[in-house]
Amino acid sequence: MQYAHISGWGKYVPARRMTNDDLAQLVETSDDWIQTRTGIVERRIVDEGETAITMAVKAAREALQVAHFSPRHVDLIIVATFSPDRVMPSTACMVQDAIGADGAAAFDVNAACSGFVYGLGIARSMLMTGEYSNALVIGTEAVSHMLNWEDRSTCVLFGDGAGAVFLQSSEHPGGILAVTLGADGSGGQFLTGPTVGNNYVPQIGADLDLNHLQMNGPAVFRFASRILGKAAKESAKAAGLEMEDIELFIPHQANLRIIKSAAKHLNLPMEKVFVNLQKYGNTSSASIPLALCEAIEEGRLEPGDHVVMVAFGAGLTWGAATIQWARALPIPQEPHWHTPTHWAWYRLSPWRSLVWRATLRLDAWVDRIYRLIRHRR
Ligand code: ACO
Repeated sequence: MQYAHISGWGKYVPARRMTNDDLAQLVETSDDWIQTRTGIVERRIVDEGETAITMAVKAAREALQVAHFSPRHVDLIIVATFSPDRVMPSTACMVQDAIGADGAAAFDVNAACSGFVYGLGIARSMLMTGEYSNALVIGTEAVSHMLNWEDRSTCVLFGDGAGAVFLQSSEHPGGILAVTLGADGSGGQFLTGPTVGNNYVPQIGADLDLNHLQMNGPAVFRFASRILGKAAKESAKAAGLEMEDIELFIPHQANLRIIKSAAKHLNLPMEKVFVNLQKYGNTSSASIPLALCEAIEEGRLEPGDHVVMVAFGAGLTWGAATIQWARALPIPQEPHWHTPTHWAWYRLSPWRSLVWRATLRLDAWVDRIYRLIRHRR
């Protein structure tokens, strides 16, 4: 039997900070309101040229670097996002090209803020079949691109960023022990994003904003308060654990009040709960991998520790994953001196991509000439 272990992790947040006071210049709000109702102090916002793709690439490279793993040998790339640069090609394909993961399978998942946990569940299943031996799972969001900066009920909540984990399969028990996922589309109208071609599905709501993120905050709040604890318990149970066996709880970083109510419901002291939303706001599918990375950086995880990560989001969707942490993995890692080779590969990747593109263009030209000659005959 194969198990999926996390052997690498990485994150990227834009340098540009936006504080609550900055927001108070844009809409009728205050630092006090935002902090009291959400716990958010500041968030990061992409600068010109930064997108879901560029952030995902940075997080992915860092995750591979931590794992000492060559980008060339990546089997599978799953990107969770609801704010891609384009509906297609997928963000995952752009990451595949940018890091030079030759021939890796790549696709996007959209389960809004639950997307990363969905991606983790899919990757785990694919690794457990034995057909794939490793996977990059990335959550990346440039939510600021779709916010209505005149709507104080949404623009104060979100931030941009990306987080990634690198999974490797091993016969050694542990790693991602269980993932439970769920959805309830009857609540789809509570949290919506822009439409494609100004079209809408009537049952979702004809009166919703077609160009921006729109949310019924209190409805989502009630749903989140109900589902977080329930999903976390289910996931722990599926892994054969009780919540008291959990050393670290990483909830989706949307609202401190939701997190505190989930912790209370689960009987977890806040010392076991990881919170970093004060720095980044709600970064949607990037929120859990960003929090995981910071928990590791802060030394909050010891080998053997059990972690439950739980998310909720638009859809409505939810997902929870239970992990047994193992830093010293039973997976052979590439020697450290390979790192410069990876660095060189990244530097070469744009040129490699250029050559592939030129080849494809040449192929199209040859085909066109061939058709022209055949037509004339
Ligand atoms: N500044 C000042 N006042 C505000 C602001 C603001 N930014 N936003 C709303 N208000 C006002 C409202 O207009 C309302 O005023 P009124 O009483 O005069 O009508 C008052 O504050 C209370 O508004 P509520 O919406 O009832 O406030 P609530 O306490 O519910 O907090 C919030 C709102 C923070 C949005 C909360 O409902 C929430 O966090 N909901 C969950 C959101 C969430 O987690 N979304 C992420 C989903 S994940 C994904 O998939 C993207």
